[in-house]
Amino acid sequence: MQNVSSITKTILILTLFALASACSRGESSPGLAPGAASVNPKTLVNPVPPTEKSIAAGKRRYDRLCSDCHGPDGKGDGTMAAALEKEWKVKTSDLTDEKWDYGSTDGEIFVGIRDGVGKKQAMKGLNGKPGIVDEDMWNMVNYIRSIGPKPK
Ligand code: HEC
Repeated sequence: MQNVSSITKTILILTLFALASACSRGESSPGLAPGAASVNPKTLVNPVPPTEKSIAAGKRRYDRLCSDCHGPDGKGDGTMAAALEKEWKVKTSDLTDEKWDYGSTDGEIFVGIRDGVGKKQAMKGLNGKPGIVDEDMWNMVNYIRSIGPKPK
């Protein structure tokens, strides 16, 4: 009898251990720095309505910060695009085509602009750039939407 009860005890302990580790795995979000906002870019809601004013403000920022690479009309043909392709073998995205390689929701575009895009980080994010606040980046999202493919 003694053997049976010690096996039972072992099984019970193992079961408890498995349960406990399953719980703690469920609670934490791996890959996120402590305190990082665990907001899903896909469902992040654009708080800035795409008014004419917002789109115009976004265009002003775009012309200054983005057109060197993405081109004056967003076609991916800015003056720096050829150099990026040659040196880094990365193609500067055409922002007006049907294809979004890094997600097509406003939130995903916003996070790309904020944190940078692509594995090689050819495109640096604007996060922390002096004078740039979230609203500026949402304005740019609204501008890009205004020149990009219309949602179907
Ligand atoms: C130094 C050049 C450079 C600058 C400046 C730059 N980008 Fe980019 N951008 C790129 C490259 C290169 C990619 C594609 C990266 C890849 O595929 O690795 C890209 C990708 C993107 C994408 C993703 C497109 C898709 O199809 O999913 C968006 C959106 C974007 N850029 C917006 C912007 C905005 C807005 C600005 C200005 C704030 C900007 N970029 C500034 C080079 C640049």
